[in-house]
Amino acid sequence: MDRIIVNGNGPLTGQIPIAGAKNTCLKLMCAALLSDEPLTLTNVPRLSDVATLSELLESLGVQIGRLDDGQTLALSAANLSSHLAHYDIVRKLRASFNVLGPLIGRTGEAIVSLPGGCAIGARAVDFHIAGLEALGATVELKDGYVHAAGDLRGAEIEFPFPSVGATENIMCAAVRARGTTVIRNAAREPDTKALADCLIAMGADIEGAGTDQIVVRGVDRLHGATHRVIADRIELGTYMIAPAIAGGEVECLGGSRGLVSSLCDKMEEAGLEITETEAGLKVRHTGGRVKSVNVKTAPFPGFPTDLQAQMMALMCFADGEAVLEETIFENRFMHAPELIRMGAKIEVHGNTARVTGVDGLNGAPVMATDLRASVSLILAGLAAQGETVVSRVYHLDRGYEQLVRKLRGVGANVERVSDG
Ligand code: EPZ
Repeated sequence: MDRIIVNGNGPLTGQIPIAGAKNTCLKLMCAALLSDEPLTLTNVPRLSDVATLSELLESLGVQIGRLDDGQTLALSAANLSSHLAHYDIVRKLRASFNVLGPLIGRTGEAIVSLPGGCAIGARAVDFHIAGLEALGATVELKDGYVHAAGDLRGAEIEFPFPSVGATENIMCAAVRARGTTVIRNAAREPDTKALADCLIAMGADIEGAGTDQIVVRGVDRLHGATHRVIADRIELGTYMIAPAIAGGEVECLGGSRGLVSSLCDKMEEAGLEITETEAGLKVRHTGGRVKSVNVKTAPFPGFPTDLQAQMMALMCFADGEAVLEETIFENRFMHAPELIRMGAKIEVHGNTARVTGVDGLNGAPVMATDLRASVSLILAGLAAQGETVVSRVYHLDRGYEQLVRKLRGVGANVERVSDG
């Protein structure tokens, strides 16, 4: 199994290109199920999660053509052969639960494995199911699978919490339902807005995406389209935090403040300089230790849970004490014990972590059980004394395209080694 070895070696300088957003791309791929004409996606990130979802879609009869070294995908769901999303794939990739809405929207029937919990929390799907029932589907849970069927009609749905996945699943189901659907307390994440934009390009009638109320008027059919995947705001935030930890100045190409405004606010409060450039966003460490800042995760436009681990890595080096509160997932501090092994001072009580900044960390062998936790250990390693060896690299391959190459491009001492 591969490992990544990081040696802290001082300030970073240069540019890092930001790839297309994983969490947008996966949902756009699912949306291809809604039409019998091809959906062509450009700026697709080359990630193992994209490959896993491709495998699932192909098992449903979707034909996928890959161009530009995998950065363009042409998905054709003209000849769907199945409406069964098997456990073997859904368990590997939770986002594959998002074939449910498009499948039932297109065929009136879907059987999709329940995803189960994962390392960061229980991650229930009750809002998805209640939403489909409100649209008139009959939903049965049998042998670990959701069996949903029915001729969908518009409805008023209010989510108890602005779930990203549920908003996206219900929006996709509603685009071909009869009549108007109103989704209240909808997720406002850029990924959800980007999915709506793609559906609109395919002929859907959607208003309000990006706000907490989305109105979908059902249409008879969707047509093909070509759509560009937006920049990955979590990859962007991760690489913005790299020079904040290691020092230096890095320009993230393709990034914009609107995607990460809550992170920019916190980084500026910590003393970092952030400038919007023509090509993206530049972060400059102005010297000395950054200041501690408190962070509470929240749905967009609040501070993203997917950047909490990286922010904790930064706070390990800050001057003072920071309180990080995780409000989205119940078990998302798995990086804390690993950072402590590198010399960090962190106390975790329930959903709160108290981080007292230290003068420096020391490299250590570490591993993590999810994508963002893993990358936070790489970031910490950039400024640690000595060698940090991160194992279980497959987590990183799920969400960071060419991580080693991008970090080496700004001068980091990082390499990937294979044990053969
Ligand atoms: C999406 O997950 C992202 N994944 C996650 O990215 C991200 O952390 C999360 O949104 C929050 O921003 C993808 O888009 C593929 P939710 P999702 O439904 O849709 C509870 C990463 O690292 N809930 O908004 O699964 C749920 O348990 C990841 O890239 C219910 O209770 O998130 C959680 O506590 C990991 N019932 C909260 O809501 C439901 O039916 C938010 O979940 C649905 C959700």
